[in-house]
Amino acid sequence: MILAPMQGLTEVLFRRVFYRHFAGLFNYAVAPFVSLTHGNLADATKKIDDLLPDANRDSMPVVPQILGKEPTEFVELANRLCDLGYTEINWNLGCPMRKVAAKHRGSGMLPYPDELRHVLDQVVPAIRVSLSIKMRLGLTNRDEIFALVPILNDYPIANVTIHPRIGRQQYTGHVDLETFARVKPLLKHSVIYNGDITTLEEYKTIVGRFTDLFDVMIGRGILYDPTLPLQIKQNRKFSAEEKKLSTTTFIADLINEIDRRLPTDEAKLRKTKEYWCLISRSLPITEQQARSVLHATTLAETQQLIFNFIQ
Ligand SMILES: Cc1cc2nc3c(=O)[nH]c(=O)nc-3n(C[C@H](O)[C@H](O)[C@H](O)COP(=O)(O)O)c2cc1C
Repeated sequence: MILAPMQGLTEVLFRRVFYRHFAGLFNYAVAPFVSLTHGNLADATKKIDDLLPDANRDSMPVVPQILGKEPTEFVELANRLCDLGYTEINWNLGCPMRKVAAKHRGSGMLPYPDELRHVLDQVVPAIRVSLSIKMRLGLTNRDEIFALVPILNDYPIANVTIHPRIGRQQYTGHVDLETFARVKPLLKHSVIYNGDITTLEEYKTIVGRFTDLFDVMIGRGILYDPTLPLQIKQNRKFSAEEKKLSTTTFIADLINEIDRRLPTDEAKLRKTKEYWCLISRSLPITEQQARSVLHATTLAETQQLIFNFIQ
């Protein structure tokens, strides 16, 4: 199992807390993307703090991810990450944000096979790390991926993660398992499945149908139910009581860590509520109860309401 990159959610703070409670369940995490801005690696430098080996010491192994398509900057950043000790870099070809896609980055690269080949031609021979790719089926059409497969097959790529949606869908609608089933055997690389696994049953459906997957990547499902990887590992659905026991101590630790690590009350409040919106689904409380926390205006009040629910 691999922890999916989720910008604002699965940075090192979360990864460390998760590891403290559920060590050894994920083979590794792909970190949220570091963006290349043409001619300016300033954003990258800020994001690299998240990837410093010291910060990641008591945590799961990490593969950094790059978003962008400028070969020179890509190589420079990848080799900087190599100097930090990383051996694999993941390239983001899935980001659905319109602003990003409009510049042919993320899922915006998917309709342009020639551009993909151009970047791979420049980047693959010049980086000192192996390259993996995380992609969707296309930007506007699920068949775009079929023109990309022969190109991907021409390069030594460590693995390809497919989230079988198109960029325009963002996170709506359903994953397209039929197209995933058609494209998977055409790729000569190891394939990782990603998308909409939120229960043990959904995990079993995927690995039961696609028996030769290299691995499975899970994102939002971890926040909806932090015990999901343990249930998968033990191949057993947890009772509500078991879930509550593990989840509440995990949430308490996460909230405390946000309080300790973030610089201002405003940032702490925003981040606490951001996690709460997702992670409150793992608790046996009503939607109305979960929403009541979002009405709190101070950090202390927000924390108190959450702690009342997880006692
Ligand atoms: C808030 C949020 C942030 C995300 N950030 C990234 C990212 O930085 N890089 C990336 O490749 N995918 C990113 N994704 C996509 C997820 O990695 C994953 O592909 C998607 O959520 C589908 O998997 P899931 O259904 O298991 O969550 C993000 C998704 C969400 C919801």
